[in-house]
Amino acid sequence: MKRVAILISGRGSNMAALIEAAKAENFPAEIAIVISNKSDAEGLEKAKAAGISTLVIESKSFGKDRAAFEAKLQSALDDNGIELICLAGFMRLFTAEFVQRWQGRMLNIHPSLLPSFPGLDPHGQALRTGVKISGATVHFVIAETDAGPIIMQGAVAVLGDDTAETLAARVLDVEHRIYPDALRLVATGGTQLDGDICRTSANASPDDALISPAVI
Ligand code: GRF
Repeated sequence: MKRVAILISGRGSNMAALIEAAKAENFPAEIAIVISNKSDAEGLEKAKAAGISTLVIESKSFGKDRAAFEAKLQSALDDNGIELICLAGFMRLFTAEFVQRWQGRMLNIHPSLLPSFPGLDPHGQALRTGVKISGATVHFVIAETDAGPIIMQGAVAVLGDDTAETLAARVLDVEHRIYPDALRLVATGGTQLDGDICRTSANASPDDALISPAVI
């Protein structure tokens, strides 16, 4: 049973999906704590309601001193015996040192099929580019933002009348499915880092295809 910390800054819907999945008796990870860098993150109430312990480490007061914020975060992780970190809408960048320390043990989810559309407004980027398929990616965190060995991806169709909001909602459903599955895979030792590549013990069906648009 791996002890997991979820780091949030806001709404916490992915956090909630992870908490829900971890309730299953055979789930190989336990959500030990939810840590927010913002005291007003909506997700904090959701975590408390689910009976998960929460902690706020306000990053604002640390200004640009990332290392000092991370020292405080690291001691909270140590105090709680944390083995894996899941970033779930955590809106603060880490130093290369912190990332290195958690290499292969810190996961993030991003709402695009990386390496396409990293950074801000991925759905706007997808719509402006005209891709017909988008999705979400769970990856191990490296120093570069929204990059790193890909653990799992889920795809959705982009529709002709999509707005960033409708596309975001469709992708979010997929996020809530793949983040728990990716955590399960990592926590059971089903992933292996091979340089920049994450090898997985599980495969999708070779016959599965998502075609968009569908021409009737
Ligand atoms: C999600 O779209 C996630 O992929 C991105 O930030 C958003 C967080 O949403 N990193 P929530 O806080 O999990 O609801």
